[in-house]
Amino acid sequence: MSQANISLHNKEFTPYLPEAQITAAVREVAARINQDYAGQTPLFVAVLNGSFMFAADLLKELTVACEVAFIRVASYAGTSSTGEIKEILGLQEDVAGRHLVVLEDIVDTGHTMKAMLEQLHAKQPASVEVATLLIKPECLQHELNIKYQGLSIPNDFVVGYGLDYDGLGRNYRDLYRAV
Ligand code: IMP
Repeated sequence: MSQANISLHNKEFTPYLPEAQITAAVREVAARINQDYAGQTPLFVAVLNGSFMFAADLLKELTVACEVAFIRVASYAGTSSTGEIKEILGLQEDVAGRHLVVLEDIVDTGHTMKAMLEQLHAKQPASVEVATLLIKPECLQHELNIKYQGLSIPNDFVVGYGLDYDGLGRNYRDLYRAV
C-alpha cells in the first residue's frame, strides 16, 4: 500500500519508516530493558516533547516495576562550546541512588544528550542509561554510550511518531523524511 506525502509548513515529507517497523524496534528495546532491569525499580526520564509517543509505547511493553518522570531541556545562549547552555527542567524526583533510563526520540549531534547526562550524573544516581528510538550515527559528535538504540537512520530530517518540524508532524504514526 503506497502512502501519500505530507506537507508541513510548505515543506514536503515522504513516507519513510512504517508504524510496524517502529513498533518492532520499540518491542526489542523493551525486551532488553525487561531483562536488564529485572528485580530493580528503574526511573524512566522521558524528554518532552519528542519522546511522548516512544515513552508511552515503550512503557506499555515493560513488565518491571518502574516510575516515569517527564522533563524538558531548555536551551539558552551561553558560553559553552556549542554557544548554548542546556538545562534540565521539571525533574522533581530525588534521583540519588536510582537507576535512571533517559528516553529520547532522536539523538542527532548528541549535544543535547551529552549536556543532559552530565547534569543527571551530578545528581548521583546509581546508574544512567539511554534509550533512544532513533539515532543518526553520521551526525554524532560525542562519545555517548547509548545502550538502547531503536533504529539507526541516515542524516535525513524526519517527522512523525512524536518528532516535529517546527511544531508540526508529531501526530503521525509513521515516520516521514524531508524530500
Ligand atoms: P542533538 O542535540 O543534535 O542530538 O539534537 C537532538 C534534538 O534535535 C532532538 O531531541 C530533536 O528535538 C531535534 N532533532 C534532531 N534531528 C531531528 C529530526 O530529524 N527530526 C526532528 N527533530 C530532530
